[in-house]
Amino acid sequence: MFYPEEIVEEVRTKNDIVDVISGYVKLQKKGSNYFGLCPFHNEKSPSFSVSSSKQMYYCFGCGAGGNAITFLMEYENYSFPEALKALADRAGVALPEKDMSKEARAQADLRTTLLEINKLAANYFYYQLKHPQGRAGYEYLRNRQLTDDTIRRFGLGFANKTGDDLYRYLKDKGYRDQILKETGLVTIEEKGTHDKFWNRVMFPIMDVNNRVIGFGGRVMGDGKPKYLNSPETRLFDKSRNLYGLNYARTSREKFLLICEGYMDVIAMHQAGFTNAVASLGTALTPGHASLIKRYADQVILTYDSDGAGVRAALRAIPILKEAGISCKVLNLEPYKDPDEFIKNLGPEEFRQRVDKARNSFLFEIDVMKREYDLEDPEQKTRFYNSAARKLLEFPEALERDNYIQAVAREHFINYQDLRRLVNNLGSRLGGVPQGGRSQNSLSYKDRKKEKEDGPKRSQRLLLTWLIEDPRLFEKIRGIITPDDFREELYHQVAQMVFDGHAKGDVNPAGILNHFIDDEERYHTVASLFHANVGESLNNEEQKKAFSETVLKVKKNSLDEASKKATDMAQLQEIIKAQSALKTLNISID
Ligand code: GTP
Ligand code: MN
Repeated sequence: MFYPEEIVEEVRTKNDIVDVISGYVKLQKKGSNYFGLCPFHNEKSPSFSVSSSKQMYYCFGCGAGGNAITFLMEYENYSFPEALKALADRAGVALPEKDMSKEARAQADLRTTLLEINKLAANYFYYQLKHPQGRAGYEYLRNRQLTDDTIRRFGLGFANKTGDDLYRYLKDKGYRDQILKETGLVTIEEKGTHDKFWNRVMFPIMDVNNRVIGFGGRVMGDGKPKYLNSPETRLFDKSRNLYGLNYARTSREKFLLICEGYMDVIAMHQAGFTNAVASLGTALTPGHASLIKRYADQVILTYDSDGAGVRAALRAIPILKEAGISCKVLNLEPYKDPDEFIKNLGPEEFRQRVDKARNSFLFEIDVMKREYDLEDPEQKTRFYNSAARKLLEFPEALERDNYIQAVAREHFINYQDLRRLVNNLGSRLGGVPQGGRSQNSLSYKDRKKEKEDGPKRSQRLLLTWLIEDPRLFEKIRGIITPDDFREELYHQVAQMVFDGHAKGDVNPAGILNHFIDDEERYHTVASLFHANVGESLNNEEQKKAFSETVLKVKKNSLDEASKKATDMAQLQEIIKAQSALKTLNISID
């Protein structure tokens, strides 16, 4: 943690979360909470809630949750110190500079400086483009039918022919070689110093918060490499950024268009498709998918129509599906990429292709079919078998059947025959709906469920209940202590919740601060404070569930303790407690 806890808490408590989030999301009061449309995923009806009493937010749709600090971290893509600084400024709290550890301070400064330099460089390139020395670049872009507006919006620029003028410009601004090296914009060697980019048109790459984190540069003609990209730096993680997302995230569309390159994104935006993004030469990663998921749960792939584009689509589809994003594929034929398509056929035709984009499963079958010579009976049979095997990917019988129908219809296979083939294959491979993907390729959600065993689940439930309804502390007095939460993380949280309760103030948002450094733990803790356990224990079933949970937690705790017991006296204590548990009766009323 960069700052002392008291400072973090001071900043947090001086920023009411409802005020902070209202600056980004339109909130409406409903009962004791506020609701709005979740800014982290696309939705039509509000499942994003903000609790004034807990000073936390939670989305029942996508699971995003946290306090005012993490809200800014997620929404603005801020680091922890950046988010804290923004909130401190907002509330007029002065952050103590020297209290940050030296190393932490240096890290934060470095990031800020790198952003500063990138911004200067982007401005520098833009300036060149607009002046006589950048004429070649400007004409290249105009020839590619980009308007002045588009050039400005995407901050396109030009890197001069001279090999080191950006370097000299930045040196004049007072930056040292050491830091300039880290930007990836210059190469500093014994032999001399030169700019990475020269005689190229420049595409600044921005993060979702419009900050320049890297660059791409294109030759104006046929030179090699066609595109040169910034190396990965402290700011630029290629697998977690999408070109154009800073604009696409504010588009009104429910889906994103994903393409391969800078020019495709820009051409689509210029044609009015402002929901286009690109993964820039690198294959789509799960990191990209989870970034996408914050803004949309549908995408249309508009990769190049060549073999590489098809392969990229085939690789992207399972990654997107895994992240819970539904996916279609747009047919660009007879053109190579969106840029060329739009140039030749215009936005109207492109819109029609968007509307006709192909379901990704059916696209996969189409591609598969091309590998077989259907004139040959043997190969035709093999194609049917492969299609049937692929259909087994759908674990839900109804959904599977919908696809069996579609495949049968489109590929002129008798529906009953195909269905029988799928079922036979399924039972041979260990029963429908096994097969298809291998047995251990459970979906992400399933894996999560599997990992959470019984005792862990009980501890989580109990903790959630106690946070939700502090009166329940009465019911467990003398039975449950923080030490009964055997899971390390839950134990930590339980200790804080119990301490808070003793002081008469359980402070969820404050507790969460302790876990901000570790994304996974932080999400687990945030979800503790929001699990949907019903308002309170107002019916018999829930009361029963509560007392059963208490017993389970205690039993597990005693079992664990007996495993660890080192002497006889200790063990006898535990055994006594274990038998007492059998007659224990927790009454809720
Ligand atoms: P234009 O020819 O300008 O229309 O580009 P394009 O977008 O049609 O290019 P292409 O389909 O060849 O490449 C798609 C994306 O891959 C580009 O936007 C770059 O991000 C990346 N890319 C292309 N060529 C290179 C290269 O030579 N080196 C690197 N590192 N990346 C490249
Ligand atoms: Mn192109």
